[in-house]
Amino acid sequence: MTSHDPHPAIRQLFDRDTFSYTYLLFDRQSREGVIIDAVREQFDRDLQLINELGIELLYAIETHAHADHITSAGMLRQNTGAKIVYSADAEIKGIDISLQDGDELPFGQYKIKALATPGHTSGCMSYYVPGAVFTGDTLLIRGCGRTDFQQGDAARLYQNVTDKLFTLPDDTVVYPAHDYKGRTCSTIGEEKHWNPRLGGGQSLARFTEIMNNLNLDMPKKINEAVPANVSVGVDYNPRRYVHEDFSMNDLHTAWQHLKENELIVDNRTLEEYAEGHVPGSRNIPFGEESDHAATLQQYDKVYIYCRSGRRAQTAYTNLALAGLSNVTCVSHTGMPNWIAAGYPVEQG
Ligand SMILES: [Fe+2]
Repeated sequence: MTSHDPHPAIRQLFDRDTFSYTYLLFDRQSREGVIIDAVREQFDRDLQLINELGIELLYAIETHAHADHITSAGMLRQNTGAKIVYSADAEIKGIDISLQDGDELPFGQYKIKALATPGHTSGCMSYYVPGAVFTGDTLLIRGCGRTDFQQGDAARLYQNVTDKLFTLPDDTVVYPAHDYKGRTCSTIGEEKHWNPRLGGGQSLARFTEIMNNLNLDMPKKINEAVPANVSVGVDYNPRRYVHEDFSMNDLHTAWQHLKENELIVDNRTLEEYAEGHVPGSRNIPFGEESDHAATLQQYDKVYIYCRSGRRAQTAYTNLALAGLSNVTCVSHTGMPNWIAAGYPVEQG
């Protein structure tokens, strides 16, 4: 184990209820690490291991929006500051980093590389580090993920496995998201040879025929897991949801340079607003923001403030959940700070 170790440390963790694998990768020297496909029910176990190993968790990475379990990525972010990472094509709300094919994330002396492998879902991403590939449900040991829901597409899966995964070095270790028979890993060479669906030079036509005739039941948790996973696995409790710091001083700067297609919203009560507000701001009382989502969406930028930052932050969360990405909220401060700074105030 020298500083020139070509491979990061890899820990494979298992969830018995859903036969899911979670992977913790880290640099033995710097202790920077990433976790792939963490499962909510195993959050305590995983966090304890991260702490015991002294790992500074940089990223909670997902291979896709799982249909059979709920991710703990949101909880890990809250507890470790890790950034949540998905494929841009997965269309997940509340993530920190969305990846395109070929993007790399550094941790310690290593980089993890994103390989877009849609097919099981339209947002599936595999992740490569020298010597190992984390294939999610795209490529399983002697199998592959189903392609009959979540915008699955058998032809795309076939193409991505044969073009992107089967062209990796043969001795690359394959770490899947699941195994139902107690196997832990495989290699690219093995799967190219022995995978009954995709190996042995299987044709696309035969593969598609196999996939179209699986007649599988829906996963037990799909109706719960997919909606939860598209918002990173946390019920957005606004008190826990942390928006980046944006102060009333920042708002003052924005106000000075406000463009025609930008809006400042005061989301206190009408009474508070009438007593004094940021000149030109519009009053949308707290709790009514979702009714105005369609209107607010039309602005390039929307700034929201209140008195202490709490209501603004909650409105921000609600609008983010409604799909808006143009909103900035003032957190931790509000109108009293604006007044104390001597900035202009409008009444009525
Ligand atoms: Fe899946």
